[in-house]
Amino acid sequence: MAGKLKILAISGSLREQSYNTKLLNVLKDMVSGAMDMEIVRLKGIPVYDGDDEDASGVPEIVQDLAARIHAADGVLISTPEYNFSIPGGLKNATDWVSRVKNQPFKDKRVGIVGAAQSPVGTARSQYHLRQNLVGLEALTMNKPELFVSLAQNKFDADGYLTDESSRKIFAVWLEAFEAWVRRG
Ligand SMILES: Cc1cc2nc3c(=O)[nH]c(=O)nc-3n(C[C@H](O)[C@H](O)[C@H](O)COP(=O)(O)O)c2cc1C
Repeated sequence: MAGKLKILAISGSLREQSYNTKLLNVLKDMVSGAMDMEIVRLKGIPVYDGDDEDASGVPEIVQDLAARIHAADGVLISTPEYNFSIPGGLKNATDWVSRVKNQPFKDKRVGIVGAAQSPVGTARSQYHLRQNLVGLEALTMNKPELFVSLAQNKFDADGYLTDESSRKIFAVWLEAFEAWVRRG
């Protein structure tokens, strides 16, 4: 796959000051030459309910998300960790998207990253998300992994990454992710 890659970057957090959204913003700035990254948040997606689906079909907001995933060369997901797992909102979004005809994660190249304020840095939630994406037949990059621990010490209030050693790790991860998507 040649040329500038189109990446859909999904933040698993709805918070305005989310470290996961800040992480995606930093990654987007770092790759502006090689990839166009569109960052989306999952605000406004209703909780999946099979009766609502039977009555009204898949909501427009979910169909729009699915169309963006379809149109992207690759998807990047930054997940927080809630109680050792994926936030409900992110799981709910993937459940809804899986209900779309020709669900868009099938054979899609995906990268997973995450930021947390704990020392564990979303390791547990990333593994749960990976498992979830197996169910959706996504092609998730196995290695390298990117866990941002103690995020409160690494970004300033404006979202600037103040931790230079993290920047180096991000660059290595991004290079691998670009190569992974280009294989598609
Ligand atoms: C309900 C809830 C559960 C949490 N559980 C965990 C956890 O299991 N592991 C962890 O590292 N952080 C946990 N946290 C703290 C999050 O890492 C922290 O709130 C982080 O900033 C969330 O990501 P965000 O900044 O992108 O919103 C939890 C936070 C909430 C609100």
